[in-house]
Amino acid sequence: MARRAALLLLFILAAPAPALAVESTIVFGTLGRSRFTFDIFALPLGPLSSTSSPAGEVRLTDGASVNYNGNFAPSSDSLLFVSDRNGSLNLYTTPVVPSGSRREALEAPAAAPLSPLLPWDPIALKDRPSLTPDGEHLVYVSTAEPSDGPRRSWAAVYSTHLPSGSTRRLTPRGVAGLSPAVSPSGEWTASASPATVRSGGDVVDLHTDIYVFRTSDGSRRTLLIRDAGWPTWADDTTLFFHHRDSHGWYGVYRATVSFAGGEAAASVVERVTPPGFHALTPAASPGAPGLVAVATRRPGSDYRHIEVIDFSAAGANAYFEVTRPVAPRAHHFNPFISPDGARVGYHRCRGSGNGDSPLLLENIKSPSPETFSLLRVDGYYPSFSHDGKRIAFVGLPGLFVVNSDGSGGRRKIFSGNAFATAWDWKRKGVIYTSIGPDFAGVRTEVDVIAVTLGNGGEDSSNISIKKLTVGGDNNAFPSPSPDGKWVVFRSGRSGHKNLYIMDAVDGEAGGIRRLTDGPWSDTMCNWSPDGEWIAFASDRHNPGGHSFEIYMVHPNGTGLRRVVRSGDGGVTTHPWFSPDSKTIVFTSEYAGVSAEPVSNPDHFYPGQIFTVNVDGSGLRRLTHDSFEDGTPSWTPYYIKPENVGETLQGSGTCAFEDCHWLKIVDAQPDGIMSACV
Ligand SMILES: *[C@@H]1O[C@H](CO)[C@@H](O)[C@H](O)[C@H]1NC(C)=O
Ligand SMILES: *[C@@H]1O[C@H](CO)[C@@H](O)[C@H](O)[C@H]1NC(C)=O
Ligand SMILES: *[C@@H]1O[C@H](CO)[C@@H](O)[C@H](O)[C@H]1NC(C)=O
Repeated sequence: MARRAALLLLFILAAPAPALAVESTIVFGTLGRSRFTFDIFALPLGPLSSTSSPAGEVRLTDGASVNYNGNFAPSSDSLLFVSDRNGSLNLYTTPVVPSGSRREALEAPAAAPLSPLLPWDPIALKDRPSLTPDGEHLVYVSTAEPSDGPRRSWAAVYSTHLPSGSTRRLTPRGVAGLSPAVSPSGEWTASASPATVRSGGDVVDLHTDIYVFRTSDGSRRTLLIRDAGWPTWADDTTLFFHHRDSHGWYGVYRATVSFAGGEAAASVVERVTPPGFHALTPAASPGAPGLVAVATRRPGSDYRHIEVIDFSAAGANAYFEVTRPVAPRAHHFNPFISPDGARVGYHRCRGSGNGDSPLLLENIKSPSPETFSLLRVDGYYPSFSHDGKRIAFVGLPGLFVVNSDGSGGRRKIFSGNAFATAWDWKRKGVIYTSIGPDFAGVRTEVDVIAVTLGNGGEDSSNISIKKLTVGGDNNAFPSPSPDGKWVVFRSGRSGHKNLYIMDAVDGEAGGIRRLTDGPWSDTMCNWSPDGEWIAFASDRHNPGGHSFEIYMVHPNGTGLRRVVRSGDGGVTTHPWFSPDSKTIVFTSEYAGVSAEPVSNPDHFYPGQIFTVNVDGSGLRRLTHDSFEDGTPSWTPYYIKPENVGETLQGSGTCAFEDCHWLKIVDAQPDGIMSACV
């Protein structure tokens, strides 16, 4: 207790005084997130000979927010799951109607009571819930505590004694823990720990090792299997898991676990699914001996589906389709089997006409609600007009404006590919963006344009477009000076991406000068509201090394300094100044992964939103999720921390890619180049 109090005091002393005198808002986008309208569903597990039918599928969650990574309680009569409602990822439980009940098909999940499982709700991701057999201890992943360095995952396995709320970290400090699985007796927990720090810019090749430790206190931790993840117990001595083979195929493996001398060891380890298709995220249950549910991605199929493997089938393992007959054109993720063996659960998009529609602005819990609110926008590169009434954002493709209060006004003001948005400080209704392909080379045709909305910004049906750069040498990421005279942007015109400043009204034709110069990439610039600084992302510390960090320079080219280091090979980008110019918000993979990447739909790196003081002190993590958050902006306008809905017509709410993790690069003996092209 005393130790806890001392730590708390330390935290208070170390915490920077609130820097902002005025309330403000940070907005950002999350790759694909508004398409992840997941709910948790279940189908009867047996008899396997009968085909799954749509009529047998029940939705177990209420169609609100995003609900995923379900698991059944030991009694099989309630569901544990993750939900993104109310501003943070928390764990919930909801009753499940007994299997075979005649009420089953009629049950309205929305009416089922839904209660948060955790007595406390700090701002942190909570994921992969399971209960010990006595129902008293909740074992789960949380990002509540920072790791000890950049690019090290904050995720660790915790156990909360539900009656008292007392919580214990089961993963040792300095180590990350993902994908916990409690053994049927409750005595042991298996979990995956990231084994390597990546050197590239993505997380495709995250390698984890499986460790086993006592569920009660994390003791007797032993390395069970190298290069493996997503453990699941069939019984207390049989563990299934997935591993990616040298050709790139995910396969399911089985290990026999012994506990000689009180320590776990794997004796027999064998592959149970053949190469040639992906089988991943296995789920076993003592109530379903001889069966394992897996997600598969088969060549020729555009979707991830749940199948069940029957090991008892004489001689050969038999595969049974679970979800393909029911919802053929949807991705299904992360199956789980009820302890009584009666059901297999999974999550997928709820589809249209079910539950709530995507939000224009989704309130995310702010660590300093007294100084700023934090909102996720259904779009990328969001930025507010200076009166706060409009948001400009990029829709991949297209540039849009929309009223920030949810009253509509959504209009596409440029239909080609555009990226980055910034509003002029003086001339109302002038939005800067860059048009052309993003993530492209220096000679790619990309130019900076200014889009002017008619009638001082009020009339978005009357727009005029002016091209500010010429030559198309990847001119991008415009940011205007607060006096309205200049625009800083990056350009590849010298053969390297460096920063330049040009006239805000007439563009290059009105005058241009070079701000940075060197054989590296300076990009994603932002001019501070006090006019004194330009922040940008650069790889100048290791040109071409795919590592980006945040730097600042005065507009006259003096005072260059590095603000954020992102760790070996790390990527930290998209800086944007706070209204008082004292803090910078940015996106970074500084906090590592928060879930096994392959258990989520595509993203490209584990970007999360952070702030830092301009002197490099006071680094703070703002978002805690396992998706890709990015492109933040910071406005002096204060938006109340509440969800803002907007009815979107015909938005394809389930349209997202799920291929990135599962690409097969090697040519296979049977000529298959890629399982998902
Ligand atoms: C929590 O989220 C649910 C579903 O999105 C919503 O109905 C409810 O009003 C929210 N509760 C609070 C306190 O915001
Ligand atoms: C369109 O906007 C421009 C600039 O604000 C203005 O001069 C022009 O009259 C507007 N045209 C219409 C049809 O409203
Ligand atoms: C450059 O700009 C900074 C910030 O405005 C200023 O303090 C400094 O004196 C300027 N240096 C020169 C050489 O003009």
